[in-house]
Amino acid sequence: MDYLQIEGIKNLNGRITISGAKNASLPLIAMTILAKNQVSIKNMPDVVDIKTLLKLLSNLGAQCTFNKKNVLVDTSKLTETKATYDIVKTMRASILVLGPILARFGHCEVSLPGGCAIGQRPVDLHLKALEQMGAKINIEAGYIQASAPKGLKGCEISFDKITVTGTANIVMAAALAKGKTVLTNAAREPEVVQLCEILNASGVKIEGIGTAILTIHGTNKELLDIQEFSIIPDRIEAGTYLCAAAITRSVITLEKVKASHLGAVISKLEEMGSKFDITEDTITIHPSKKIKAIKITTQEYPAFPTDMQAQFLALATQAEGTSIIEERLFENRFMHVSELQRMGASISLNGNIATVNGKTELSGTDVMATDLRASSALVLAALVAEGTTNIHRIYHLDRGYDSLEKKLQNVGAKIKRLKE
Ligand code: EPZ
Repeated sequence: MDYLQIEGIKNLNGRITISGAKNASLPLIAMTILAKNQVSIKNMPDVVDIKTLLKLLSNLGAQCTFNKKNVLVDTSKLTETKATYDIVKTMRASILVLGPILARFGHCEVSLPGGCAIGQRPVDLHLKALEQMGAKINIEAGYIQASAPKGLKGCEISFDKITVTGTANIVMAAALAKGKTVLTNAAREPEVVQLCEILNASGVKIEGIGTAILTIHGTNKELLDIQEFSIIPDRIEAGTYLCAAAITRSVITLEKVKASHLGAVISKLEEMGSKFDITEDTITIHPSKKIKAIKITTQEYPAFPTDMQAQFLALATQAEGTSIIEERLFENRFMHVSELQRMGASISLNGNIATVNGKTELSGTDVMATDLRASSALVLAALVAEGTTNIHRIYHLDRGYDSLEKKLQNVGAKIKRLKE
């Protein structure tokens, strides 16, 4: 297995190009199941989760190619409708094939994703919504068995909780359903917006894009002609590198980034003392020498994103004073805390609230990544720790960050990937 070795106390300087968004790519790859033609997708991030989903589609009979950020998917010869446990267990977002396969073929079997490190992660809301659309769902031997022999029917659906992949799944199911679906309490993340925009451009009339109420006019199983499109920039990758600049007090410019997707993140960094120059597709951060303590509560978009919580917790160890970080979405998303404490951070946990006392000197040591965003928090801490930090189990990191060590090396970080 690989691990990252990072020398601390390094100032960074230069420009980082942001890759396409992993969490936009996954539903958009699943969306190709709804297409009659070969779909060309540009600006695809080179991360493990994308390869996993492309492998899943190939196992179902799709023709997938991925080279230099360009993905081609042809699902016209898709024959299988069963997403098996061996793949789904490695990536719970595989649940995103459920809606499209069921809508197109009238039946689908998907292994229950099971929980993951950060929480139980149920899919009950996805299933309840599909039942409302006329699907028959039962759970047998760890598999979701869904059938809708007469096709799915549009209806009024209201999500009890805001769910990002739940919204994507139902939007895609509704795209091929008969009649109109009104989805209330829908997720408004930019990744969901892009999925709706591409479907809308492919003949599925969708109203309310970007709002919490989506109206989807289904094509009644008429497959879609999907034109080439490019994945939006990854706002979480971008936010992670902004935190890298802030924690090392370095001026960094991000390229190919959409600042409008990072409103809550940028305003929190401003509260902590950073200043910004922003253009159409770049963000330059000018961090303050002294970092101010902060209060953060994670919520759904456009509020502060849970996927940036770990990174800000690492940053808060360098802030002067006491920061309070509340995690409202997932029940177990503080596993980076114990690893940061081993580096010398002063953090106390009380339920889903972390209290961080700064500023503490961190010292390099061996640490273990536990999940995707926790891994990036350890990288940030290692950049300012005294001495060398070895971050193990970085297969978590490789799921969602494209060429992280290369991008950081290009701005002066002393970071390298070694073999255990
Ligand atoms: C998406 O996960 C993202 N993943 C996550 O990013 C992100 O943390 C999360 O949204 C929240 O923003 C992808 O887009 C691939 P949810 P998702 O359904 O859709 C509960 C990363 O780091 N819920 O919005 O699985 C759930 O337990 C990953 O890139 C139900 O109760 O999250 C959670 O408490 C990690 N029943 C809340 O809703 C359901 O049927 C939000 O979950 C579905 C969800």
